[in-house]
Amino acid sequence: MKFTEMITELNTHGQEQVAERLQALSGSQQEKLASQVSKIDWSVVESIANKESETGEKSVEPLTAVEQKDIETNKDKYSKAGLDAIKAGKVAAVLLAGGQGTRLGLDKPKGTLNVGVDKELYLFEQLIKNIMDVVNQAGVWVPLYIMTSEKNNEDTIAFFEEHNYFGYDKSYVRFFVQNMVPSVDYDGKLYMEAEDSLSMSPNGNGGWFLSMLSAGLEQDLRDKKIEWINVFAVDNILQRIADPAFVGATILSGCECGSKVVRKVAPDEKVGVMCRVNGHPSIIEYYEMSDELASMRREDGELVYGFGVILNYLFRLDKLFEIADRNLPLHIVEKKIPYINDNNELIKPDAPNGYKFETLVLDMVEMMDDCLPYEVVREHEFAPIKNKTGQDSLESARELLKVNGIEF
Ligand code: UTP
Repeated sequence: MKFTEMITELNTHGQEQVAERLQALSGSQQEKLASQVSKIDWSVVESIANKESETGEKSVEPLTAVEQKDIETNKDKYSKAGLDAIKAGKVAAVLLAGGQGTRLGLDKPKGTLNVGVDKELYLFEQLIKNIMDVVNQAGVWVPLYIMTSEKNNEDTIAFFEEHNYFGYDKSYVRFFVQNMVPSVDYDGKLYMEAEDSLSMSPNGNGGWFLSMLSAGLEQDLRDKKIEWINVFAVDNILQRIADPAFVGATILSGCECGSKVVRKVAPDEKVGVMCRVNGHPSIIEYYEMSDELASMRREDGELVYGFGVILNYLFRLDKLFEIADRNLPLHIVEKKIPYINDNNELIKPDAPNGYKFETLVLDMVEMMDDCLPYEVVREHEFAPIKNKTGQDSLESARELLKVNGIEF
């Protein structure tokens, strides 16, 4: 695109503040900003205009989970099926570590957080320990793909190198970088984070598979003859990865995907719950659910919509290829966005000041024909570190580490 066309385009889209800055720059600084501008997908940044629009009628139905009682009875059968698949090299894991952890206020990758008190214990380190349990059981390395973003890729790789991959065979670890999108203020104006750069942020965890493909990892997956991918979040320190019983139960169920879930503690708990929407497996957010639906009970007294997701999914790879070119819905999320003011001072707001645009991995579940919710015991498998204090924080995770006898 010619420079003049770019300026016109920015002005047409109401982004005079960026046009002016672009014109005032020269040399490599101008080139850098121009390159970002040329990649803007206006349908994304202008989607805030349709933010409140209704997405139509939803028919919500329950989705049967495999529950703890069943898992205890069939543990050997499920574990054997899972271990067979893992030993045959059919299962890989994807660690989603491209997020910015704004709630924790870290300026380095979340996985480098030291949760230790008496000794060092990094989030990444414990995750590697968790996957090593399966590696030791199966006697094979599980290929591990780690998604980072442009903001934290170098630091993440350096951290793994510095710690010698915490004993994981590094030839089974591949990093890939997710795509970035610009952020806007409440009026849709693009924020700038430096004189020569828009405020860019990772495009959400839903982009993981496309980003893997853009990074050229398709051949690697095919060469390794991977059939199943376990995708999981960086912040749940008790995360079981490539859990044989979960893998086995999903394979034996014949479903195209599986999702680890925990039993809700109360009808109004703020978690997304697994259900079926318009015939497809889906995750319905707590605020989308009526009180009546949220408190409906089964004959045995348990909640009908009683299982919350914990961002640990198993997807069949052939199905991922099949849906790869479909668009995921865009989520417009209020966040704290650092920006430069008119005096070029960097402002780091302490309250949300605009929108970021994200796609979410949970929306991929809806693209599957079926999904197996698999119940795990919350206190053994769910200790997310999202906030500085209180719920889902470093404090609460430390309590749960103690419960599980993990030294730190
Ligand atoms: P969260 O939704 O908790 O976001 O991510 P976050 O960026 O880590 O934290 P906040 O909201 O800014 O405080 C859930 C998981 O998805 C990953 C995160 O790294 C985490 O494992 N994620 C999130 C990505 O990999 N990329 C993204 O763009 C967003």
